[in-house]
Amino acid sequence: MTIKAESRLIIAMDVTDRKEALAIAEKLGGAVDAIKVNYPIVLSCGLGIIGELKQYTNVIADFKVADIPNTNKLICEETFKAGADAIICQGFTGKDSVQACVDAAKQYGKEVFVVTEMSHPGALDFLQGHALELVDLARAAGANGIIAPATRPERLAMIRQRAGDMKILSPGVGTQGGDAASAIKAGADFVIVGRSIYNAPDPYQAAKNFIEQLRR
Ligand code: C5P
Repeated sequence: MTIKAESRLIIAMDVTDRKEALAIAEKLGGAVDAIKVNYPIVLSCGLGIIGELKQYTNVIADFKVADIPNTNKLICEETFKAGADAIICQGFTGKDSVQACVDAAKQYGKEVFVVTEMSHPGALDFLQGHALELVDLARAAGANGIIAPATRPERLAMIRQRAGDMKILSPGVGTQGGDAASAIKAGADFVIVGRSIYNAPDPYQAAKNFIEQLRR
């Protein structure tokens, strides 16, 4: 199953308390296109949290998988068996490693997104210089989409041009300084928002505000 762009909002569920995560998911599950889990919540609550969150909406496992092909395949299989609809992997490990994720995803009917340029300042140290090559690699490996930064809309637009019809998920909105509407305008299909939603006094209202911005 592929994750459809409806609200265009994906929440990064980086809280580490299971009850808090489930309470937020229950409130927001119907409004967002997916919940993205990363290591903090899985290390704290266990892989089973994926299945628990999945009752509310799609789940994307942001494990930034970055190993040899066989290990990548094993990581993807466990993640998909746990119920994730998609997984995020790194591209700098090379085409064979990304291909292993894509092959595993195809077997399970799931999706793979490849990190190109990250959203934080350190992405300028190494990743930015190779971001467009990583886009090409993701496409050549048959990935469903890529991750590109909302913090640099001009770079996002450049990456969109290179990405053709691949989906773009864009983190860095809110706390990291990116703007939701600008990211969509630059070519993102979805924006990913974490702290600006789950740390808000009313996460539901915060999410609704982002959805409203994305509609315009
Ligand atoms: O709290 P915030 O909105 O900054 O969360 C962003 C989420 O997206 C985090 O889970 C972070 O690990 C992830 N991410 C990112 N930049 C990337 C890839 C993933 O911020 N390039």
